[in-house]
Amino acid sequence: MKFKGFFVVAAAASLMFAVSQNSFAGDNSPGYKLIKANGCLACHAVDQNKVGPSYKVIAETNEKLYGKDALKHIEESIEKGSKGKYKNLGISAVMPPYGYLGKQKIETISKWIMSLTK
Ligand code: HEC
Repeated sequence: MKFKGFFVVAAAASLMFAVSQNSFAGDNSPGYKLIKANGCLACHAVDQNKVGPSYKVIAETNEKLYGKDALKHIEESIEKGSKGKYKNLGISAVMPPYGYLGKQKIETISKWIMSLTK
């Protein structure tokens, strides 16, 4: 009996781990789908800095810097590119401009990024 209980707990724990990992890795929302489809994950991850800063760090940094205007700044950086903003994290690479995606897709992506602060 004791043994069986242990396995139930272990199974529940590993299930919870899988679910929380999943939410870290992104989700099925339109914004994250666009990020996946457009190669952004070559340089970005949701919660880890790679070539570029993590989307969490981006959301938090822009919220701190610009408050309610954060969304606008993120949209502008995706449209026109960015460099030097995350030097303090040791990131010296350049964010290429993605203006060809168009305003609507850029807005959808940016809203998803900002949703990570909540
Ligand atoms: C070649 C690598 C690379 C690719 C591909 C890339 N990025 Fe970036 N991105 C970066 C780097 C490097 C930075 C940090 C730039 C800086 O320090 O200003 C960055 C920064 C950003 C920022 C933060 C800008 C800010 O003002 O805070 C956003 C938002 C962003 N990227 C979104 C995207 C999206 C969306 C895509 C896909 C459409 C994408 N990136 C593709 C490298 C990349």
